[in-house]
Amino acid sequence: RTAPRPRRITARAAPVAAALLLVAGCSGVGVEGTPGAAGLRDPYFPKLGNGGYDVRHYALNIAYDPRTRRIEATADITAAATQNLSAFNLDLAGLTVRSAAVDGATASYRRAGKELTVRPREELGKGTVFRTRLVYAGVPETITDPDGSEEGWLPTADGALAVGEPTGSMAWFPGNHHPSDKATYTVTLSVPAGLKAVSNGRLVSERTANGRTTAVWNAPEPMASYLATVAIGAYRTTTGTVRAGKPADAPAVPVLSVIDPAAADAEADGLLARIPELLDWEAENFGPYPFSAAGAIVDRPGDLGYALETQTRPVFPRTAFDAPTLVHELAHQWYGNSVTPETWRDMWLNEGFATYAEWLYAEDFEDVPAQDSFTEAFDDDANWAFPPADPPEAENISDAPVYGRGAMVLHKVRQAVGDDAFFEILRGWPAKYRYANASTDDFTAYVEDVAGEDAQDDLDEVWDVWLYGDGKPDGP
Ligand code: ARG
Ligand code: ZN
Repeated sequence: RTAPRPRRITARAAPVAAALLLVAGCSGVGVEGTPGAAGLRDPYFPKLGNGGYDVRHYALNIAYDPRTRRIEATADITAAATQNLSAFNLDLAGLTVRSAAVDGATASYRRAGKELTVRPREELGKGTVFRTRLVYAGVPETITDPDGSEEGWLPTADGALAVGEPTGSMAWFPGNHHPSDKATYTVTLSVPAGLKAVSNGRLVSERTANGRTTAVWNAPEPMASYLATVAIGAYRTTTGTVRAGKPADAPAVPVLSVIDPAAADAEADGLLARIPELLDWEAENFGPYPFSAAGAIVDRPGDLGYALETQTRPVFPRTAFDAPTLVHELAHQWYGNSVTPETWRDMWLNEGFATYAEWLYAEDFEDVPAQDSFTEAFDDDANWAFPPADPPEAENISDAPVYGRGAMVLHKVRQAVGDDAFFEILRGWPAKYRYANASTDDFTAYVEDVAGEDAQDDLDEVWDVWLYGDGKPDGP
């Protein structure tokens, strides 16, 4: 995209603007630009994300050398200022910044911990769309989560894998790394010929010259940065198409999956082949598939102990690639990826729905009623450590209650409102908040809206006891 010419607050224009602001009766934000906030005060990761601007598009250009494990990279970030800005922050962990520029003019920058502060030569007026170019390099780090799991950039036997939930994407590109700032992406990857380089969305081009392969990937629908991925390896590729509930006049969705040949076997190939069937089934239950590409990445990263719902193309270590997990990560494309949590406190909205998708799969494909899955979750003590909508600490946001008790909340909603309204909610919730963010309050309000007065008392109890209640109820 091309940015419109920026509007600037220059030193000379400032007094005039100040007078105008006074006339307009504005107060609070001074007309002199102020630095954007260093964090968005997420309840679990207060420094994550940055205030004062809203990213529209990331164009990342990354060259990887698997031998040295280094990247050489450029990030072009198009953003809109949401206040008069004298400086703004980006989140970046490790790596070395070589240069910064805003709208083509060299900008000064400073690093402190995971905060990169960029000071443009001229202040940016509220509403200005501006482009920041950062040139950076180094060996991207693997980040250990508060819960001890690994994310960020993970070297593999022949390449690398990038996964970013909740904070890992700052290990490989500077950005506004809070889920509330969604943007579109173009990711250009250069790797030694013989390797494949994969990211989110559609493959725009792939060329090999002078011993290197360059692949350009485009993700045209808004994406939270924790869902961005890069996968580099000597992969085998499979392709296909799926309709997944898209209207008859819309193009079919291309499906592109890659698998590490050393991780491939009949079972894994069989699962990859089921992606179109599973997306069609989910689209029947959840509404049309929200994205213009689909697929999966199956690899053997050393210590990655979980699959991740990276947008359009979830990542699976071979050890976590099975039918329920595939159903789960594909369901996240609706719940989590299209409608994304407002803060990390709302993570149960991701995991509760994705777990409930597994229960629906068991119901439709394995003759196990959701009621049985519910009872099994109810009987599991791990699910009762805390209420799903209020994990005590950052290290708990991926714990059992967020998944199992989150799904129990949905099952109680189903009992309270009946199947018709419940399946309307499954479709309507990701439709209403398509490509946007939503909070737990948005969810309870939406359910109450669909269900109407008659269900109000029952729903109050669902929220009090199952969503927010501290202890385990006497019976399911
Ligand atoms: N969201 C992933 C899934 O359930 C799991 C991510 C786990 N991450 C972690 N840091 N423990 O599909
Ligand atoms: Zn999940």
